[in-house]
Amino acid sequence: MNALVIYESMFGNTRRIAEAVARALESDGLWVDLVRAGDAPNDLAMFALVIVGSPTHAHTLPLPASRTQAAAWADDQSKALVLEAGADGEGVREWLERCEIPHPTPHFAAFSTRSDIPRLFAGDAAVGIRRRLRKRGVEVTALADFEVDVASRLVHGEEARAATWALTLARSATSGRSVTPVVP
Ligand SMILES: Cc1cc2nc3c(=O)[nH]c(=O)nc-3n(C[C@H](O)[C@H](O)[C@H](O)COP(=O)(O)O)c2cc1C
Repeated sequence: MNALVIYESMFGNTRRIAEAVARALESDGLWVDLVRAGDAPNDLAMFALVIVGSPTHAHTLPLPASRTQAAAWADDQSKALVLEAGADGEGVREWLERCEIPHPTPHFAAFSTRSDIPRLFAGDAAVGIRRRLRKRGVEVTALADFEVDVASRLVHGEEARAATWALTLARSATSGRSVTPVVP
């Protein structure tokens, strides 16, 4: 089974979760393509499972203005953040507009990274991904969010949790059953 893992990332946290997801899928025998949203294909026909991940900005998916703000954070030496290559380019929001939805439709799953505060205050980009795909007639079958601390570093254990989540996605997609959403 072929899987596509698409991510956007400013400081590397969402990329690290995407990499953990991709490694777990590969360890389960899937053929996995891991790509930044700006490099992601429009044509999804060859994939049985598509997993889309984004940082949460202003409660939802990044916009050009919030990407610029993230770049300003990285310019602030005191934050010790390194901006990812291509961070200011096209992201998940733009890819969701340009991708083509094939029939039969692959299983779709979405994840976000967000601050480690209650979701009510943080928002969740995964919910934004689900909403945009729903408008295109696609139901996302699993959502997850992974937390970063106040210094914008992944909270300990989040990559392992992402790997566990990915294995549940792979097994559900392989068996054809609907995927059980993982509530953190
Ligand atoms: C401009 C900006 C706005 C943000 N807004 C939110 C927010 O509304 N809620 C939240 O939980 N985190 C917010 N964050 C924190 C990001 O979610 C966090 O930096 C991101 O998950 C880190 O992932 P990345 O390293 O892949 O970019 C914001 C970060 C930036 C730079």
